[in-house]
Amino acid sequence: MKVLVTGGAGYIGSHTALALKKAGHEPIVLDSMVNGHAWAVKYGPLVEGDIGDAELVARVCAEHKPEAVIHFAAFIEVGESVANPAKYIENNYHKAQRLFDALCAGGVKRVVFSSTAAVYGTPVSDAPIAEDHPQNPINPYGEAKLLAEKYLRSLEGQGMRSLALRYFNAAGAAPIEEGIGEAHDPETHLIPNVLLAGLGVKDEVKLFGSDYPTRDGTALRDYIHVLDLAAAHLAALDYLAAGGATDACNLGTGTGSTVLEVVQAASRALGHDVPQSRHPRRAGDPPMLVANAARAREKLGWSPRYNLDDIVESALAWHRFSQTRPVL
Ligand SMILES: NC(=O)c1ccc[n+]([C@@H]2O[C@H](COP(=O)([O-])OP(=O)(O)OC[C@H]3O[C@@H](n4cnc5c(N)ncnc54)[C@H](O)[C@@H]3O)[C@@H](O)[C@H]2O)c1
Repeated sequence: MKVLVTGGAGYIGSHTALALKKAGHEPIVLDSMVNGHAWAVKYGPLVEGDIGDAELVARVCAEHKPEAVIHFAAFIEVGESVANPAKYIENNYHKAQRLFDALCAGGVKRVVFSSTAAVYGTPVSDAPIAEDHPQNPINPYGEAKLLAEKYLRSLEGQGMRSLALRYFNAAGAAPIEEGIGEAHDPETHLIPNVLLAGLGVKDEVKLFGSDYPTRDGTALRDYIHVLDLAAAHLAALDYLAAGGATDACNLGTGTGSTVLEVVQAASRALGHDVPQSRHPRRAGDPPMLVANAARAREKLGWSPRYNLDDIVESALAWHRFSQTRPVL
């Protein structure tokens, strides 16, 4: 099937375009290239433009006739969203609204939406977070995603069916022969930053908080391989194509790794220690964020295949490769 992939020149979008292509689908990427990479668009055509441009979206619907849309396009830096909320509310909520309206008008009524664990805010307990956990985002990034989820749901009356996929921490990369991987600027995610310090690209990695109530005192997060995320998006398309109802599903492994476990996995993969410095906790960082992904298992028949070592090893191969490439 033809699938419009907004944000398909970015990290998770490009890996999902790969998975679509491999499964015999036709991904059409819509990306403004504000944070995208031309080298990451290799599995189908690129339409360069903004998701908020309703005329463009109408044209894309008429020309390409996609049966479904996977909406990744967004800004992704939580800290920046706190400093500049308007930027995030505009891009991640208002422009998403315009996109969803234009899709509806263009007759495209199946959407898979990139949401996030940030819609939950601070967890009420240490238990894995299920979809019915209270949704109280603590930053504009999470707020904008929650608003977009709600708006998309409100289009049900017009025949729109959608699945919001709430990812926890995406990491890892496709096999290196694909030549795609995580390349954010600035890079705020732990795994790339640990590896870039290990490779000497950065002086050190800063580790925040060593007195959390976790097994080794460092914060615990649920890391999910980007290829597992991509597979979940394909399962979500199948679910909607089979008539599945609008819903939201968490995507995570349900186990989680601490910051020190990530650093140890990186040291194992690199064969040496990672230069690091220890700092106090950062405000707003909860001790644990782990997904209860039972709903995705039940509704989508999806479960993750890769573990932390797979994630770190694939990410290391990518960062080694990307350092040798002038195009980055
Ligand atoms: N990376 C994670 O760990 C993570 C976790 C939870 C949720 N998410 C969500 O997953 C999605 C993809 O994240 P990513 O890490 O691949 O980010 P990314 O920055 O690599 O990709 C986002 C892409 O969207 C494009 N874009 C942004 N605004 C646009 C607009 N208005 N019009 C057209 N294109 C636009 C960018 O150019 C970029 O190519 C985002 O919606 C993000 O919020 C990511």
